[in-house]
Amino acid sequence: MRIGVLTGGGDCAGLNAALRAVVRMAGHLLDRSVVGYRRGWNGVLDGDAVTLDAEAMRGVLSRGGTMLGTSRSSRRLQTEGTAPLLAQLERDGVEGLVTIGGDGTLITARRLSDAGFPVVAVPKTIDNDVCGTDSCIGFDTALGVATEAVDRLHTTAESHNRIMVLEVMGREAGHIAAGAGIAGGAAAVLVPETPFDIDEIAERLIARHHRDRNASIVVVAEGAVPDGSVEAPDTGTDEWGNRILDGMGQFVGDLLAERTGFETRTTVLGYIQRGGPPSPADRLLGSRLGARAVEALAGGRSGRLVGVCSTGIAYSPLAEVAGRTRYLSADQLELLDYISTAPALTRRSDGRRWF
Ligand code: F6P
Repeated sequence: MRIGVLTGGGDCAGLNAALRAVVRMAGHLLDRSVVGYRRGWNGVLDGDAVTLDAEAMRGVLSRGGTMLGTSRSSRRLQTEGTAPLLAQLERDGVEGLVTIGGDGTLITARRLSDAGFPVVAVPKTIDNDVCGTDSCIGFDTALGVATEAVDRLHTTAESHNRIMVLEVMGREAGHIAAGAGIAGGAAAVLVPETPFDIDEIAERLIARHHRDRNASIVVVAEGAVPDGSVEAPDTGTDEWGNRILDGMGQFVGDLLAERTGFETRTTVLGYIQRGGPPSPADRLLGSRLGARAVEALAGGRSGRLVGVCSTGIAYSPLAEVAGRTRYLSADQLELLDYISTAPALTRRSDGRRWF
């Protein structure tokens, strides 16, 4: 069996570890090199491929980004469906494909699988919102960067008695915001899962500072949304109809400055979360999932997403995970209640506040 591999969607740390594991496992189980497609699905459409063998993978384990390059969705894929992909894979003699990507990549992987082509998907996205796995490649590294940012903001905030707003990535789910907020001891965390009440947050920050605190960190996921009390600026949609996320951190910072009267500064962490060397956990996760994906393909277990769960490796049917979002769990949201703003959770059942 000849295997192809691609990385799709936004890059992240740990992709090269996964690619290396795919190539090494294919060499081990199938005694073959791998066809690596450049620039995600666009590379398959254009027949832009490179041969990957053990030699080609030397030194990539600790490097961030993806050595194959990546791309977001393509117009051609949308209009022509899977036919050109299937034709190119046949021309290249590829009999099974490992796709390493997030939600967009998964949807095309599922279509290909529904068309009868053997595909195994590996989850990656710093947003950590793919169903069928407890963790996606790239999340741990991004969480480390975001947590360090919270730590650093603490010391400068304390020196100036300021509110510091930190905007992190997280389009549909608040895994980075919740993780860094809890790990870094933020005063409030705003996640896409629960609309925030800006007045309630402002009230809490005023109370904190009047009590004894001289710094408050507010972590805002880029996809956080206000409840009905204030209107978020309309930032429009992109060519694919996705909401453009731009400026939620600044919006929150401005509102808090106005409502609290405290000096407030906003930092947008941006692509620093996606770049740089992978954490050991991401190297390990990429290696595990890449290797297991090839094993699944070689063993005839395709049409699956290979993920990790508490008992080890989980193989979920693509039909069950493609097009779905893994949100913060009820447990995580409840934990956030100790520091955050979820309106339904911020008051105890006896009517008193947590703070
Ligand atoms: O890959 C996920 C993600 O990092 C989101 O958190 C963010 O909204 C988006 O990618 C940014 O994508 P782009 O690279 O297209 O600007």
